Amino acid sequence: MMEDLAMHILEILMNSIGAKAGRILLKIRESMKDNIIEITVTDNGSGMSEEMVKTVADPFTTTRKTRKIGMGVAFMKGLTEQCGGSFGITSRPGEGTEVKASIVRDHIDAPPTGDLGQMMMYAIQADETIDFEMIYETDSDQFVFKSSEIREMLEGVSLLEPEILLWIKEYINEGIMRAKEGMR
Ligand SMILES: Nc1ncnc2c1ncn2[C@@H]1O[C@H](COP(=O)(O)OP(=O)(O)O)[C@@H](O)[C@H]1O
Ligand SMILES: [Mg+2]
Repeated sequence: MMEDLAMHILEILMNSIGAKAGRILLKIRESMKDNIIEITVTDNGSGMSEEMVKTVADPFTTTRKTRKIGMGVAFMKGLTEQCGGSFGITSRPGEGTEVKASIVRDHIDAPPTGDLGQMMMYAIQADETIDFEMIYETDSDQFVFKSSEIREMLEGVSLLEPEILLWIKEYINEGIMRAKEGMR
């Protein structure tokens, strides 16, 4: 079962990976001021038709004759609704997709954030050739991670080396922790 935000976001990232994106941007904005957590995933993958967008967001309202549809997107949408937030997908076939989700930060049903460093580690493991960019933003600070920068720094060493993956995970979690320090 998906329990924390990181696992939900990973589902969305995996969809972008499945859509053969070469570039995936994840932006998380956590605002005390606005009492909101906003998540945006933008990819340059295969995109979806308008009909497909409707089907993935509401798999139960559509007829059975369409191809088998999973539940990752529907779960994320359900979570946002349960937590007083919003959910939307903008997509263009051949161009890419943007998934936007938000939840009320202190909502009683809001899940814990979870391990975002580990989440990114899993995403990179799924396809290390993708350029992943992650922006974590608070009211007063920002942390940016770019897998392309790490790749350049490594000069040919694979991102998939276990110690590199673990380093990435720690690097991201420390960066987020530091960005959060100004929040209290
Ligand atoms: N970013 C995306 N780009 C292109 N197609 C997508 C994207 N996200 C979801 N889809 C399409 O929507 C379908 C449903 O996604 P999801 O609800 O996560 O279930 P599953 O991934 O198990 O099929 C995917 O199979 C895919 O066809
Ligand atoms: Mg999926």
